[in-house]
Amino acid sequence: MRILGTGSALPALTVTNDDLAKFLDTSDEWIRTHTGIESRQVITDETLLQLAARAANAALENAGLTSADIDYLLCSTVQADTVTPSLGCVLQAEIGAACPALDINGACAGFLYALDLADALLKAGKAARVLVVCAEGMSRMVDWSDRSTCVLFGDGAGAAVVDGGEGLLATRLTSAGDATFLNMHPSPGNSPFATSHLPMRALYMDGPEIYRFAVSHSVKDLRAVCEAAGVALEYVDHFLLHQANKRIIDAARVRLKQPEEKFPLNVQVRGNTSSASVPILLDEVSRAGRLRPGDILAMSAFGAGLTTGACVLRWTKE
Ligand code: ACO
Repeated sequence: MRILGTGSALPALTVTNDDLAKFLDTSDEWIRTHTGIESRQVITDETLLQLAARAANAALENAGLTSADIDYLLCSTVQADTVTPSLGCVLQAEIGAACPALDINGACAGFLYALDLADALLKAGKAARVLVVCAEGMSRMVDWSDRSTCVLFGDGAGAAVVDGGEGLLATRLTSAGDATFLNMHPSPGNSPFATSHLPMRALYMDGPEIYRFAVSHSVKDLRAVCEAAGVALEYVDHFLLHQANKRIIDAARVRLKQPEEKFPLNVQVRGNTSSASVPILLDEVSRAGRLRPGDILAMSAFGAGLTTGACVLRWTKE
C-alpha cells in the first residue's frame, strides 16, 4: 500500500486559550505549559459531512484522481452527524463516489486502523484504490464546563487516497477493552423494557492515567513496528505522532533518543482532533514540502478502547 494523495479540512472558527479563559477557570499559561496547545478550530455551523467532503476532495485532487476512481471508502469517526446512516455512506453520495462505504471507530488510533483495513482490501483484490477519511467533532462530545477535557480538543478532518503500490513496510495495532479512564455514554434511550441504564455522560478522561498509557505504548509500538519493518529508529525521517499533548510527544521522543526536528507538530494550533490528528498533520507536512520521495515515516496514535496503532512506510509521492 502507498499513499497517493492527502487532504484536510478545518472549521472556520479558531478558539484561543484566552477565549476559553473567559468562561472557564483556566488560563493560557496553564494550557500552554501542560499541553502545548495555543488554539484549536471548533465547529459552529459546519457539519462533519462538510468537513469530511472537503478533506476527501482535497486528497483526491492531490492524488490527481476523482471520486470515480475510488472503489472503497473507509471513514473513521467516533461520532458522526447521525448514528445511522454512517458518515461513510453520506460522504460517498456527497463526493459522487459509487463504491461501498462504512465507518470504523478506533478512537484516536482510527487512521492507523483504517490504513490497515485498506491494505487488507488492496491485498485481497477487493479494491484498487481506497479513500480513507477521518472526521471528528470532539467539541460536540466534551462537557464545556469541564476544564480538564474541553481545552484539549479541536475539530477537523484528514484524508488519504491509497493504492496497492509499494510503500507500507509494517503495521502494529493493539486494543485492550478498558473503559475505566476514557469513555463517553450516549443517550440511554427510553425503552420501557430496559431494567438498567448507563447514565448519559460527556467525554470523561483521567488525564494522568492516559498520559502514562500514551507515552509507554507509543514508544513500545514505534520500537516494535520499526523492528518489524527492518528500519532502525535512526533511519526514520519523520515521526508523526497523535497530536494529543506536546508533553506526550516530547516524552516519547526523549525515550526513543531521537532529535526534535524529526517530530513535526501542529498540536499548538489544532489541539487533539482524535483520529483526524495524524492525517491532518500528514497533509500539512506534505503540503509544506517537508516530505521527499524515499523518506521513511513512522506514525503512532493511541486513544479510547484503549487502542493503539502504528505503522512505518516509505513516502513515494513526488
Ligand atoms: N486549567 C487550569 N487548571 C487545570 C486545568 C485547566 N484547563 N485542567 C486541570 N487543571 C488542574 C487540575 O484540577 C489539577 O488541580 P489540583 O492539583 O488542584 O487537583 C491540576 O490542574 C493538575 O491536573 P492534572 O490532571 O494532574 O494535570 P496534568 O499535568 O496531568 O495535565 C492533561 C492534564 C493535560 C490532561 C494530561 O494529563 C494529559 O495530556 N493527559 C493525556 C491526555 C491525552 O493524551 N488524551 C488523548 C488520548 S485520548 C483521546 O485523544 C480521546
